[in-house]
Amino acid sequence: MKLDILLGLQWGDEGKGKIVDYLTPNYKIVARFQGGPNAGHTLVFDNQKFVLHLIPSGIFREETINVIGNGVVFDPVTFDEEVKSISSHANVKSNLVISNRTHLILPTHKLLDAANEAAKGKSKIGSTLKGITPTYNDKTGRNGLRIGDILSKDFDNKLHLLIEKHKQMLDFYNFEYNLDVLLPDWLNAIENLRKYKIQNTEYLLNNELKKGNAILAEGAQGTMLDIEFGTYPFVTSSNTISAGANTGLGIAPNKVDKVYGIFKAYTTRVGSGPFPTELFDNDGKKLQDKGHEFGATTGRPRRCGWLDLVVLNFSTMINGVTDLIMTKADILTSFENIKVATKYIIDNKETTELPYDIINKEITPFYDIISGWQEDISKITDYNLLPQTLKNYVEYVEKQTSTKVSLISTGAEREAIIQKN
Ligand code: GDP
Ligand code: IMO
Ligand code: MG
Repeated sequence: MKLDILLGLQWGDEGKGKIVDYLTPNYKIVARFQGGPNAGHTLVFDNQKFVLHLIPSGIFREETINVIGNGVVFDPVTFDEEVKSISSHANVKSNLVISNRTHLILPTHKLLDAANEAAKGKSKIGSTLKGITPTYNDKTGRNGLRIGDILSKDFDNKLHLLIEKHKQMLDFYNFEYNLDVLLPDWLNAIENLRKYKIQNTEYLLNNELKKGNAILAEGAQGTMLDIEFGTYPFVTSSNTISAGANTGLGIAPNKVDKVYGIFKAYTTRVGSGPFPTELFDNDGKKLQDKGHEFGATTGRPRRCGWLDLVVLNFSTMINGVTDLIMTKADILTSFENIKVATKYIIDNKETTELPYDIINKEITPFYDIISGWQEDISKITDYNLLPQTLKNYVEYVEKQTSTKVSLISTGAEREAIIQKN
């Protein structure tokens, strides 16, 4: 009986989708516990690419139950499009269960996201504009609509009241909008949603654990985007950290076994906000080009930089990571030297602690320099056959974090993966 959790240790896009898909055969259930369609999780198999925003990345394995948990915020229009985009490869109606407690993203939540961002001007967060923050605002403000409500008689009335409230807020912002198409499309998607399994997923999940079946919780975003511990205010509005899996699924902390923490062999960030190891030189450009670093949800270019151990150690601590997973190791191939930040210099003082108000700090990272490798690693499947310099890099990270690296990903495809421990 165990819940394993897999989550990002940086600013998202670490390769969670690919690794969840790889690990899925070990689990009866794969469950999303937070975030919403701001996520974009990419899977590549059979020479095809799939991008999932709401549906868990276990959906392509027929024998797996996939759960959208209560902690997620859910846009029925995105869901409809996503189901269509994978219909030739997945049976979503029979293999997906959605929590009746999951909060609904309304079209007006998306408009409010855009209005909020416009009002922030230069200090905008760089939100994906999927309505995430306004929906979580309504959840904690106790005004939200939940998926279970679509089956209740007074749903229309509740919806009408909430939309009226949102219209007043949009007027306050002087934000121009047109709901004539957005609302009918959304209502249509709500009708389609009624055909899916909607239930108390906390009972389903805990009953499966009791039966001895294993569950994998799939995180979205990354620890540096967590509402509590991320680079506030440049964060998302949910708990992306391991504790979020407990509240976002209704599974108690004593059921947690492994916590898989995923990191890219370097670092990327999409959207605004602090990024101490960001590169503005040719190395940064090379990482972006080679790594195809463009957002899976918005297509925006991702900012690139070296691996940051201040961030990685902080994230490993906050999440209780038991196993590290390094992705995109292949992108570092052909760099003569690789840099890794081990500490920050702030106000002429050295520190290995991540400041709570990182946004107000002038940070100079201090780097270790590690020799790179030139060999093509994309076809290697045995850790022992990797170039010694790459093994040195992996073992250096293990030593610096006091945590084992159990998987190394060497390409976007399902098969491009190496087990270490
Ligand atoms: P997620 O949000 O954490 O699931 O990550 P994304 O899917 O947004 O971004 C990761 C990108 O890197 C996707 O395009 C993946 O197909 C790709 N990817 C994942 N792992 C690897 C890897 O080891 N090597 C390479 N070259 N690409 C990878
Ligand atoms: P996955 O699950 C990378 C970023 C946005 C923005 C900030 C707030 O694919 O790793 P929001 O839409 O939540 O208001 O945006 O968070 N962001 C992500 N960056 N990967 C993601 O998800 C992200 N989800 C949100 O770019 O800076
Ligand atoms: Mg992504």
